Amino acid sequence: MHSKKSITVWCLWCAILSGLLWLVFHTAETSAEEPEAPAVKKDATGRYEFREEHDRDGQGKFYMGRELAQVMSFHGAPWLERSEREEEERLSVLVDLLKLKPGQAVCDLGAGSGVITLMMAHRVGETGKVYAVDIQQEMLNLLADKTNRLGLKQVELVLGTEKNPKLTPASLDLLLMVDVYHEFAFPYEMMVEICKAMKPGGRVAFVEYRREDPQVLIKLVHKMTEAQVKKEMSPPEFGMKWKETMATLPRQHVVIFERLATK
Ligand SMILES: C[S@@+](CC[C@H](N)C(=O)[O-])C[C@H]1O[C@@H](n2cnc3c(N)ncnc32)[C@H](O)[C@@H]1O
Repeated sequence: MHSKKSITVWCLWCAILSGLLWLVFHTAETSAEEPEAPAVKKDATGRYEFREEHDRDGQGKFYMGRELAQVMSFHGAPWLERSEREEEERLSVLVDLLKLKPGQAVCDLGAGSGVITLMMAHRVGETGKVYAVDIQQEMLNLLADKTNRLGLKQVELVLGTEKNPKLTPASLDLLLMVDVYHEFAFPYEMMVEICKAMKPGGRVAFVEYRREDPQVLIKLVHKMTEAQVKKEMSPPEFGMKWKETMATLPRQHVVIFERLATK
């Protein structure tokens, strides 16, 4: 016969054991559960995705797998004007690579305070035209001060929108975007309009920090791989074909596309 005390001890052990077993199985069960998928929403076109988890320098908005960067404010204009920029980015080499000719109609899209617009204006000369487009009037005001001071009549300032650069169809020999494309809020809509504005054979040049290169110490969402640029230029309705990629600059690649002749 078991004593009352030994039965109580035995019951106590059983309770502890079943408690432990419950804990082990419950933990195993919860850890085997699928982790909760991060919230992803799409816009009405299905083209853009919005994710809660994203880079702190990004918009939380994704296009073709890439997070769009936040737009650089006009408060950052002194960074565009910094004296070490020529050494770091070799802008004079970039403008040489573009082989601009006097009399050409070109565009500096996302011109900012116009550092590159002025260089382009000297290359196309008084018989040419440079359309300097930006969505921030404050940036265009900084550029207007310079063109007025220098008397550069070939520069025309254009206030664009996030979806439309307000350019004339089939009017441009070349359109340049230096450190700009990755921060478009509507890259697809912008490219539709940009491609329309090119003459047959006209060139669109993307200048982006090389994401393939870990030595390029720029925030991730402000860098793009060549493959990603090509992917985003692939919609056939753009009517563009890749022409060449130049890796001459110290930190950026220049990826050039050409407008196909219309039938
Ligand atoms: C990093 S700054 C580069 C300025 C200039 N390209 C340079 O390298 O000196 C980017 C500029 O692109 C402009 N931008 C961003 N989205 C734009 C859009 N959809 N259309 C025109 N400009 C845009 C911004 O307002 C800003 O001035």
